[in-house]
Amino acid sequence: MASKCNLMSVVGALLVLSIFHDPTVVYAGEGVPNVALFTFGDSYYDAGNKVFLLNKKRNLPQNLWPYGKSTDYPNGKFSDGRIVPDFIGEFMSIPNGIPPALKPDVDFSRGASFAVADASILGAPVESMTLNQQVNKFKSMISKWTDDYIEKSVFMIYIGTEDYLNFTKTYPKADASAQQAFVTSVTKRLKNDISLLYSLGASRFVVPLLAPLGCLPIARQEYKTGNECYEPLNDLAKLHNKEIGPMLNEFAKIPKSGFLFTVFDYYNAVMRRIASGRSINYRFYVTNSSCCGVGTHFAYGCGMVNVHSKLCEYQRSYFFFDGRHNSEKAQEELANLLYGANPTVIQPMTVRELIVFPAKENMREFWEPNKLSTRRRRRPFRASYLDGLDLSAYY
Ligand SMILES: *[C@@H]1O[C@H](CO)[C@@H](O)[C@H](O)[C@H]1NC(C)=O
Ligand SMILES: *[C@@H]1O[C@H](CO)[C@@H](O)[C@H](O)[C@H]1NC(C)=O
Repeated sequence: MASKCNLMSVVGALLVLSIFHDPTVVYAGEGVPNVALFTFGDSYYDAGNKVFLLNKKRNLPQNLWPYGKSTDYPNGKFSDGRIVPDFIGEFMSIPNGIPPALKPDVDFSRGASFAVADASILGAPVESMTLNQQVNKFKSMISKWTDDYIEKSVFMIYIGTEDYLNFTKTYPKADASAQQAFVTSVTKRLKNDISLLYSLGASRFVVPLLAPLGCLPIARQEYKTGNECYEPLNDLAKLHNKEIGPMLNEFAKIPKSGFLFTVFDYYNAVMRRIASGRSINYRFYVTNSSCCGVGTHFAYGCGMVNVHSKLCEYQRSYFFFDGRHNSEKAQEELANLLYGANPTVIQPMTVRELIVFPAKENMREFWEPNKLSTRRRRRPFRASYLDGLDLSAYY
């Protein structure tokens, strides 16, 4: 009986969520099993690994003020405070967020961040790690967790920015076919790395699409586009993003694979917030330049010792804290979208639904190419997930 009541309150929560377009209300922690969160990728998800990777005392900008300003201290994260995985961790009732995997002598019982600033998928990033190296680091630590626990835990991956910024810098005149060839090599490698994680027992993946890279303040500043975005970088992000859903569908459609995933449309979530005249719909009043840095868009040098960066007064009204990373307030909003937004924003399910999805079952709905732009509303109640299933253990 008690479990039925819980189920009804979840139904109620879904109904409430369906009323709001971009809900900022989530039912954090409620009824979600205590599993781990593992993150991979670049500076977006780096929980402070870089300083341990370099293994020497050096003034990394992200370890200096004003990074971490809104939480009182810089901790190697690229924001004025917490980042998306910190908020997701909070929703999952992970007490102090997940620690950097490279930090010695810490508690990894609720997961770890393997992401390192400047990481790429291809190439040999200077003073960083490729995604493949991060996955191998996970492999070397795998005895810390049981197979069953790994299967139930969440794996979030955000990477690719470094590859495409580097490509555009190296080949500024690349035509459409050269762009496509490069994107194919990047996504092929990404697919291999995800496959490797899956073979190690990971089965719940969250893969946000890449941001419109040409709209990042650092791109607008470097390519001198003023109030416009730099389209060649957006084109690369779009080509990359087009491959993600179908690639993950392929894994998930293998019979008895138990491969579960969801795709967050970060590209359009950013676009909606930065479109001119639209910021009134959201809470961010400055979306075309950064809060901290120097240059036309204040996009360079935040935290660097020899740079006299400007720091905005009211970080919460800026969408970007530095040239390419969101402010804490924006990170919080994005995490809420990941955890509870409708299928126009994240599909085929939310991160919360991914966590409570029964183990060893295949998905019943897959990623659909047109859903992101055409579907406006979450169906009030997704009976197809629940029909014939006893979910009492999951809520
Ligand atoms: C950047 O591109 C160059 C030339 O293609 C390559 O050698 C290098 O490894 C790349 N760096 C990263 C971080 O991908
Ligand atoms: C950013 O947008 C504001 C208003 O929308 C505009 O006044 C300003 O010039 C823009 N900044 C840059 C660097 O283009």
